[in-house]
Amino acid sequence: MKDAAPQTIHLKDYAPFPWIVDRVDLTFRLSPTTTRVLARVAYRPNPEAGDGPFFLHGEDLRLISAAIDGTPVAPRITPEGLTCDVPDRAFLWEAEVEIAPESNTALEGLYMSGGIYSTQCEAEGFRKITYYPDRPDVMAPFRVRIESAAPVLLSNGNQTGRGDGWAEWDDPWPKPAYLFALVAGDLVAVRDRFVTRAGREVDLAIWVRPGDEGKCDWALTSLKASMTWDEETYGREYDLDIFNIVAVDDFNAGAMENKGLNIFNSALVLASPETATDRDYERIEAVIAHEYFHNWTGNRVTCRDWFQLCLKEGLTVFRDQQFTSDMRSAPVKRIEDALMMRSRQFREDGGPLAHPVRPEEFVEINNFYTTTVYDKGAEVVSMLKRLIGDNAWRAGCDLYFERHDGQAVTIEDWLRAFADVTGRDLSQFQRWYSQAGTPRLSVTEAWDGETLRLTFVQVTPPTPGQPDKGPQVIPLTMGLLHPDGSELMPSTTIEVTEATQTVDFDGAALCAKQGKPVARPVPSLLRDFSAPVILDRPLTTEDRAFLLAHDTDPFNRWEAGRGLAREVLMARATGTDFDDAAYLDGLRAVLSDPALDPAFKALVLALPSEDDLAQSLFDAGTTPDPAAIHDAAEIQRRRTAEALGDLLAETHAANATPGRYCPDADQAGRRGLANATLSLLSRTDDGARAAAQFAEADNMTQSLAALSALLNIGRGAEELSTFEARWSGDRLVMDKWFALQVMCAAPDKAADVARGLTEHPAFTWKTPNRFRAVIGSLAGNAAGFHHASGAAYTLFADWVLKLDPINPQTAARMSTAFETWRRYDPARQERIRDTIRRIRDTPGLSRDTGEMVERMLG
Ligand code: ARG
Ligand code: ZN
Repeated sequence: MKDAAPQTIHLKDYAPFPWIVDRVDLTFRLSPTTTRVLARVAYRPNPEAGDGPFFLHGEDLRLISAAIDGTPVAPRITPEGLTCDVPDRAFLWEAEVEIAPESNTALEGLYMSGGIYSTQCEAEGFRKITYYPDRPDVMAPFRVRIESAAPVLLSNGNQTGRGDGWAEWDDPWPKPAYLFALVAGDLVAVRDRFVTRAGREVDLAIWVRPGDEGKCDWALTSLKASMTWDEETYGREYDLDIFNIVAVDDFNAGAMENKGLNIFNSALVLASPETATDRDYERIEAVIAHEYFHNWTGNRVTCRDWFQLCLKEGLTVFRDQQFTSDMRSAPVKRIEDALMMRSRQFREDGGPLAHPVRPEEFVEINNFYTTTVYDKGAEVVSMLKRLIGDNAWRAGCDLYFERHDGQAVTIEDWLRAFADVTGRDLSQFQRWYSQAGTPRLSVTEAWDGETLRLTFVQVTPPTPGQPDKGPQVIPLTMGLLHPDGSELMPSTTIEVTEATQTVDFDGAALCAKQGKPVARPVPSLLRDFSAPVILDRPLTTEDRAFLLAHDTDPFNRWEAGRGLAREVLMARATGTDFDDAAYLDGLRAVLSDPALDPAFKALVLALPSEDDLAQSLFDAGTTPDPAAIHDAAEIQRRRTAEALGDLLAETHAANATPGRYCPDADQAGRRGLANATLSLLSRTDDGARAAAQFAEADNMTQSLAALSALLNIGRGAEELSTFEARWSGDRLVMDKWFALQVMCAAPDKAADVARGLTEHPAFTWKTPNRFRAVIGSLAGNAAGFHHASGAAYTLFADWVLKLDPINPQTAARMSTAFETWRRYDPARQERIRDTIRRIRDTPGLSRDTGEMVERMLG
């Protein structure tokens, strides 16, 4: 209840738990309405902790009985947990509680999804299962007994017994409660086997609802690839005899790394060519890997407290990014990650929800599973590796695992491993963890005929609670190009550490060394997106065209093309005359270059998103007009289609059907390019090609792209019905059907389309995937969401408020759609502010959503 003044938790208040847990024994007697949980927990005083009350977390539990060493006790119970007088020595705590999984719509703790019992305990869900010190620094081995008539009964670790109506599990690895999991229900397994490098035989199983068995191959393939990769790349092996993955339909997040029993949103497990897109395949591969990699980065070595969340998430995202780069195209992956950073993380970092990679306070920890913790956290890890080099990176990781296996640790412990291995002082580097906001790095150039001087100035703008920032360590990877297009030196990384810093290059000598006439070199800066900063650099259209044609760094080559697109669109969106010839010439050259990867070409062809353009305009001091931005992009697509028609048509024809469907990077890249051209071609062929592709497609990638191309030009009504009739029985495909209509709706229709879909009988809004497909997509349609009528703001807020009492976690996440409100004109600002206030003033608002709206109002 918001009126009860929610408590803020501070990093500086950390104190260890005064007891150590030696063992946990749990018995579950499952029932949808009255599940009984018996806990037997062995406690002893923690010699390293100070005194403190014996407090166990517990929420929404009905205590049946409690005893210490067999003698009944009467604990004092509050809404947050209980306290009890306990002896000053080791003792056995026993408690029985009752819970109702069926009425648990928050999907936190033990809940039911489509008749299946499932759990989600991270971050603080275990306290809804039994009374326990629900904090990550309390680690213990768990034994679990499940009693239920359900055919499949799963928990963490290895199965130690099974009988009629019961199963027993034993997880020997000490773990925090957030890694506990239990699954029970009518599930079927698709099985495989993996032999670790040390020879351990591991039974792999993917558990799904009957009927979904045919959609598990890709997840299994990805799992085996991840296990091999972690052995080869980090020397990390799996440590149990079983690895289970379960797919459930109702899930707040993407997936969860519970020890030996990963639980996934079914959208990130199930795939077949007919029902999943190439994108889905890539995401499944990455998330399977991510959760598997957590076994070492998160589970064997875990977090001391939730402020250290990036310790496991930033590192594990970094590891899954490396994995995807190795499995697919490294340059394409880098561009995709940079796109994500800029569109989501920079947006968060520049708004009212900005927080450091390691936050120092929170009200509700679930609100901090953010792009800053995850994606900026991964960028910080990547910078560390870039600064110290590959060998020191691996040595530092080895030392970290060796030192901290079985422990719950901090960012300081993490960095100490690398400081010890390299002898480097990482104290300034640590600012990346403590300072919020995106550094702006401005660069100016001076050339005196001999020396090229680069002057760097770095400024990180104020963020909530952090008015002043110190300079950060920015690894800047760069090259220099001769005006004839050749590279003058190998790529090099310079460390920008001062507020203002100059670097000189002997341009004349570099030219001479290559046997070239002396000429002013053209710098290529921030190659490979070597740091998550905004590079402020005055580049002319000619400079960009030159870099697009010649840069050997794929990221910067793409970046140059993107710069050209941005120039054109920003000019159009603000009513400024602009010649798009350089942009179109650049596209022509890229599309016709047989040496370039199709996936790379598709990235060059894609325009910056409307939300990106709004942010760029705002950063440039202009108030963005969402309608004008939308029109600018639409006009440009038509112009590009007119100017490049034949080339686009050839490209489409050459790439649309690369052969028998395979989700690999090569085919996916070709289909991606074909579909990017299809979308443009639809602007001039009235959707003829898209309609044909839709009719013929035998895979979801092409079917959905065709449908989207049609919807984007205001057609596709018939195809939508065909699609619905064919797929009404497939939950995941229907999510796409819902989402696409909202995403592709014209700005003045988006709110109506979304409202119409909320009345569809299949709009099962309590399932987060479906809610996100309709309501979340409305926020993804930038011009529709910000339509001047304000209709979308109202509809969106109504649904956030409807969801909030049912599922506060997802409602709070959704509410962040309003975080950009200060970018816009006074009329929109006022509308959005009033909408946020309406949410805030709603009686009984959850702590989750309450914290978000308070922060957004600032
Ligand atoms: N640890 C999970 C993962 O990144 C995500 C858990 C999300 N939990 C939450 N409360 N938002 O793989
Ligand atoms: Zn994770």
